[in-house]
Amino acid sequence: MINGMAIAICYLIGSLSFSLIVGKIKGIDIRKHGSGNAGATNTLRVLGIVPAIIVFVLDMGKGIASVLIGSWLSQGTLWVTAACGLAAIIGHNWPVFFSFRGGKGIATTIGVTAVLSFYPAAIAGAVAIISIFITRYVSLGSLIFTTLMPIIAVIMGAEIEIIIAMLLICAFAVYRHRSNIRRLIRGEEHKIGSKR
Ligand code: G3P
Repeated sequence: MINGMAIAICYLIGSLSFSLIVGKIKGIDIRKHGSGNAGATNTLRVLGIVPAIIVFVLDMGKGIASVLIGSWLSQGTLWVTAACGLAAIIGHNWPVFFSFRGGKGIATTIGVTAVLSFYPAAIAGAVAIISIFITRYVSLGSLIFTTLMPIIAVIMGAEIEIIIAMLLICAFAVYRHRSNIRRLIRGEEHKIGSKR
């Protein structure tokens, strides 16, 4: 009962989509601008650096908070903790408060995985950041990050609950980045710093 409640609470926390909230405060629906994604990268594109940093920190923070809440309410039960992190990402991607049309979950994933499994997240994150610096494709960095994590988790002998969570996170990221993948293949993906 308490486990189910924890997961539901984390879904609701994840549903607080901060790019949509900040966009509303600024009088726009971020989903109608730029790439159409409700996330920090598109906030940077459409609203600029300060709103983007606010959105990134808050979206990441809700991932951190969800894992901590899950661990606290379940008294450290790993599968519940991992499920709470996944619930936050699902909430971000399909938010109940915003007609289930949310973002791609990467800032929230960073928060979730930083607490759930720090070393795989840190290593994958470092590779992703380097790739973004080189290519200027945030989406490619996001895909590298989420794909590397389960591989590193396996290599490092992480618990099965963590590996399953990472695989699901990776599947969500690939699914949500379908249009980015198509644009990357065609060489038409938006580069960070360009307005498209
Ligand atoms: O985290 C989202 C990022 O990977 C891609 O965002 O707006 O370029 O589709 P966007």
